Amino acid sequence: MSKTQFPIERFRQTETPFYYYDIDLLRETLSSINEQREKYGYKVHFAVKANANARVLDEIREAGLGIDCVSGNEVKRALELGFDNQKIVFAGVGKSDWEMRLALEANIECFNVESLPEMEVLNQLAMECGRTANIALRINPNVDAHTHQYITTGLEENKFGIGMWEIEKIVEAAKNMSNINLIGIHFHIGSQITDLDVFKVLCSRVNEIQKWFEQNKIRLTIINVGGGLGIDYEYPDAKPVPDFEGYFGVFHKFLELREGQEVHFELGRAVVAQCGSLITKVLFVKEGQHKKFAIVDAGMNDLIRPALYHAYHKIENITSDLPAEKYDVVGPVCESSDCFGKAAVLAGTKRGDLIAIRSAGAYGEVMSSKYNLREFAKTYYSK
Ligand code: LLP
Repeated sequence: MSKTQFPIERFRQTETPFYYYDIDLLRETLSSINEQREKYGYKVHFAVKANANARVLDEIREAGLGIDCVSGNEVKRALELGFDNQKIVFAGVGKSDWEMRLALEANIECFNVESLPEMEVLNQLAMECGRTANIALRINPNVDAHTHQYITTGLEENKFGIGMWEIEKIVEAAKNMSNINLIGIHFHIGSQITDLDVFKVLCSRVNEIQKWFEQNKIRLTIINVGGGLGIDYEYPDAKPVPDFEGYFGVFHKFLELREGQEVHFELGRAVVAQCGSLITKVLFVKEGQHKKFAIVDAGMNDLIRPALYHAYHKIENITSDLPAEKYDVVGPVCESSDCFGKAAVLAGTKRGDLIAIRSAGAYGEVMSSKYNLREFAKTYYSK
């Protein structure tokens, strides 16, 4: 399995900060996904919210994955980059009319519908465009994903999906909507899930819900179980390709399917996280009274995960082989939360050294901003 090797000489000549994508690792990850999913005929839509970089998406399209969008602009980007319209799904709790219209005109594969009022508007807009919208109902299964509270989505207290108690009412309403075609059910319980047993619980909840549909003689062709597979942020080189065999295996073992049903997945993080690093240069090493600060030229605007979720990213000094020391690695943005790691153990660090912030390929570049009027980091690729 390939370990990311950084081209240090090339990096020394490149203006920092920048995102660097290891295309070989991305390809290796994609072929593992394909190898494992094909065993069971599963379909994967890449959750483009995790990374919308055109080069990365080209690789993903070439590998044959579909795409899971949560905004009109994501649908637009998928179409512009040549994704097949029949491999595009559109989810989201707050779809604007123009976004629904755009997706209707593009004749996408499926809308993941999250509420009755949304379904009513979609039916109306579909009628106006002379289309029929295929929909999957996003059901909130009330399963605890055991992950960070900001990225857990499948609990009753979260804003997402339709409660179990209202399924019947919504299904009845759908029957009377001429331009809505109910073809599936959809679930997504959270992100960065590292305990595969959580997906086992999801499977049993889906099985219960399937029974209800069967009793009510409603034929579903798509069972979409969302994404959420986590990655190893602590040791990105230990197993850079996530355990897709174990992941798909759980669904194969525990999900009870009816004839003709397709299982769909919406993976984001597990596809792209490990192939991306944020490369930044040390501006100054500042001695505090009790600790040292390595002040780097990337900020929370380039990678907001540590500031927003207290997320851990492995930080490496890739140009020093001096004995290790502890540093708080901080950016230049005027916020105390602009800190990539506290007491990070790095090889002895000085001005001009290059630092890699690892596992930044998912929810990194795509969540960056121009806060403090900083420029967006550029992107480079291994090939
Ligand atoms: N499907 C739906 C409906 C989702 O809401 C999400 C992610 C996914 C699929 C993809 O999940 P994944 O396979 O990437 O776990 N910005 C946060 C993560 C937010 C995830 C939002 N939903 C972070 O940086 O950790």
